[in-house]
Amino acid sequence: MSIRSKLPEVGTTIFTTMSALAAQHGAINLSQGFPDYPCAPGLLDALSAATQAGHNQYAPMAGLPALRQAITDKLKIQHAIEINPETEITITAGATQALFTAIAAVLHAGDEAILLDPSYDSYAPSILAQGAKPVHIALSAPDFSVDWQRVESTITPRTRLILINNPNNPATSTLSSEDLDILASIAEKHDLIILADEVYEHLIYDGATHHSVLAHPALRERSFAVYSFGKTFHATGWKVGYCVAPPALTSEFRKIHQFLVFAVNTPAQHALAAHLSQASSWQGLPAFFETKRALLTPGLVTAGFKLLRCRGTYFQLADYSDIRPDLNDIDFARWLTIEHGVASIPISAFYKSAPDQQIVRFCFAKQEQTLLNAIDRLKRIRN
Ligand SMILES: Cc1ncc(COP(=O)(O)O)c(C=O)c1O
Repeated sequence: MSIRSKLPEVGTTIFTTMSALAAQHGAINLSQGFPDYPCAPGLLDALSAATQAGHNQYAPMAGLPALRQAITDKLKIQHAIEINPETEITITAGATQALFTAIAAVLHAGDEAILLDPSYDSYAPSILAQGAKPVHIALSAPDFSVDWQRVESTITPRTRLILINNPNNPATSTLSSEDLDILASIAEKHDLIILADEVYEHLIYDGATHHSVLAHPALRERSFAVYSFGKTFHATGWKVGYCVAPPALTSEFRKIHQFLVFAVNTPAQHALAAHLSQASSWQGLPAFFETKRALLTPGLVTAGFKLLRCRGTYFQLADYSDIRPDLNDIDFARWLTIEHGVASIPISAFYKSAPDQQIVRFCFAKQEQTLLNAIDRLKRIRN
């Protein structure tokens, strides 16, 4: 049997590789982006109550009405906008499915989609799987700012989509309202659709504001905005997220969604609806993560890393060029895991091609004790 792979270049991801290496060497795993602390007890109780109450059959295709209403209410508090839960919100099996579905809904074979690297690892394969072409633009440390003129100059008659991730994993950078204005004018001029991955919308620090495409009228008209309850409620294993888009885009989105998953886990949607309707479930997130960031960063500095400014997400980028300038970032991450028992992610994994920047990413969505143990180990690098 001969198989012509649709994704010949896709292999095991760096996350799987680094987590396996961490397990093999008994390393503290600050590589993959998931918490090692429990989610809110109220959320767990609500899940159990939903199953006991008999909510165990298929949910409506677009998502449980109560959950879509809770999202509408939250967006009103957050951005003072009115989103129609019937025609503009679809519940998905995590953000990854929402991203794939949006891409599959609008890209045809031969179309082009612009990605800003460093970019999350599902974007390019999701585009390639449609027979479309990812066009990568590399952003550089330390601030990973976007050169919009360069973005515009890569647009061709085949370009259909620009993908943004705000706040950005792994760059930890954010887009300003000026960035969104320029993006809107480019998208209008070239009639492009925007896919905005905003899974880290609440993880934004130092009093800054998250600038969502949903709060920008011109962008909202032409954007899919994607979110993840896994990230917001410390429950990555639940794999529930959602996509907000205007009715015409949502209608195309649901055509794919209904044959990809049809409907998403029913009891989880009941539990999330109850939890989300309490604004306190998401309003304290920046302070919660700032405490963790403040715990990890001095330890990294003491160990000899130079830190890049973290404006958002639950990751800290660290330049290791004063520690092992002889190693590229993949070899450094392996060395740190094997020799010093702390696993990180090399940021070159998020680029199609880029010069080595000697930067690795640490996840600080971890219990205090996990972070303290990691710091103890990292401090020994200099001994
Ligand atoms: C930028 C980004 N988008 C999407 C996802 C995936 O979210 P989910 O687990 O809800 O599919 C992640 C997870 O790490 C992410 O970092």
